[in-house]
Amino acid sequence: PQKNLAAKPPMGWNSWNKFATDIDDKTVREIADAMVSSGLRDAGYIYVNIDDGWQGKRDQNGVLQPNEKFPDMKALADYVHSKGLKIGIYSSQGPKTCGGYEGSYGHVEQDAKTFAAWGMDYLKYDLCSGEAFYHTKETVYASYQQMGEALAATGRDIIFSLCQYGRFDVGAWGRDVGGHLWRTTGDIEDNYARMSWIGFDANGKPNHTGPNGWNDPDMLEVGNGGMSHDEYKTHMSLWALMAAPLLLGNDVRTMTPDTIALLTNREVIAIDQDVAGVQGLPVKKDGTTEIWTKKLSDGSTAVGLFNRAEAPVTVSGNWAEIGLGGAGKVRDVWAHKDAKATAAYSFTLPAHGAVLLTVSR
Ligand code: GLA
Repeated sequence: PQKNLAAKPPMGWNSWNKFATDIDDKTVREIADAMVSSGLRDAGYIYVNIDDGWQGKRDQNGVLQPNEKFPDMKALADYVHSKGLKIGIYSSQGPKTCGGYEGSYGHVEQDAKTFAAWGMDYLKYDLCSGEAFYHTKETVYASYQQMGEALAATGRDIIFSLCQYGRFDVGAWGRDVGGHLWRTTGDIEDNYARMSWIGFDANGKPNHTGPNGWNDPDMLEVGNGGMSHDEYKTHMSLWALMAAPLLLGNDVRTMTPDTIALLTNREVIAIDQDVAGVQGLPVKKDGTTEIWTKKLSDGSTAVGLFNRAEAPVTVSGNWAEIGLGGAGKVRDVWAHKDAKATAAYSFTLPAHGAVLLTVSR
């Protein structure tokens, strides 16, 4: 079983979506600085996670070294910690990572010790090239279990992120190997088709999600430029309703006010971070519109109205028919305003757009 390190879905930043393997010490430090100055840290985004591309070779004792872009990992971790943030790192259970760098195969306990000694607080552990060795549920389970136990043995608190692209029904057993989150699909991309497929249709089994063990529909693309404002609003709304981990994937050193507003809306974050840890579900689908609800711990309900079509649409109905009859208070959390609560609702949604509400009695 896992340590109690992710009672709520983890929040932070990861280098992959924006930088891929083009990441270095200086950039990570600047990102950490920007997490503070932009207000992202204070909004809850705590982890600064280095993804693939940091690894060098092993020394004569087999100890994994960073490459020349990361001269001193311990010093980098100290710097990130000094900003009131936590730091994460990435490895693969295969001999090579997806980017072709050195993986942890044959060095699991040794690498866990190295990561802990550097001061890492989060490990994303990717199946890349491990498929040659681990291709059944049993072998994949054993491989994750080995790293889970190795991390626990270090004595350091390290969130364990399982990256297996939605395979092997990992949500059913991820907790047993010490995992705190597990991917539900292959990689997200910065376009509406891919993001919306993952968000609406491939987000894992809701009963697998809850405190300390989360379905992970992959990292955010908000701010990377490939989607419209309304599409990014749909992205954030869906991830909040799913209680998904919120790992930023953009360059937080250069954000537009619009991107900052999408990422730091406290009411949207509160829906994602609700202590009950419930994954929302669609309750009504009508052509290209969907209505999702998520029960919140204070007895209210978060409601998402979504338009998957390329033209605006008006969504209307009665609260009672989606189980919310007698609603006394309706709050539009993106608009930051209360809507009039009547027996019926009607919202006009732009193409690929969303409205996110909290509804209470
Ligand atoms: C896989 C993962 C990505 C990223 C890359 C790095 O594709 O799913 O999130 O970590 O590997 O190579």
